[in-house]
Amino acid sequence: MRTVLYPGSFDPVTYGHMDLIERAAKMFDRVIVGVLYNPDKRSGMFEIEERLEILRKATAHLENVEARAFTGLLVDAVRQCGADAVLRGLRSNADADIELQMARINREIGGVETLMMASCPEKSHISSSMVRQIAALGGKYEHMVPEAARDALEKALGR
Ligand code: PNS
Repeated sequence: MRTVLYPGSFDPVTYGHMDLIERAAKMFDRVIVGVLYNPDKRSGMFEIEERLEILRKATAHLENVEARAFTGLLVDAVRQCGADAVLRGLRSNADADIELQMARINREIGGVETLMMASCPEKSHISSSMVRQIAALGGKYEHMVPEAARDALEKALGR
């Protein structure tokens, strides 16, 4: 059984993430979407439980996908969930620079392999931080995120 861990902040999950999750679900027996967080530092917009709830609703149609939260090092999360590899998306050359460094470090400190999947061009401009900003300032963002994220954003923004 091949398991891949797809880690990130998912604050909230976007259609860019969903594209990767859906493609990975076809390639692996099991896809674990890991919300990684630092318990000592609150960051972003949504609490970890809210991020997980949004992810679970957005991936409910994918039988072999589950969402879990992890703290600490990514290599420890890989060990905890028994994943064979880490999956990360590449949207740009800037992403590639950062991801290569992370992949090399995780291989060095934990013997963990990282697979990188090219994001589809129609979604490579989407990021959670942009979505949060556009939503907060009243712009059109609804086509960038799944319905569960839209509902949560509107609620968080008191609309
Ligand atoms: O969605 P993001 O913010 O691009 O996700 C980044 C994340 C959470 C995958 C990355 O910051 C991470 O792996 N954090 C865990 C801490 C860690 O293992 N650091 C050392 C590896 S470079």
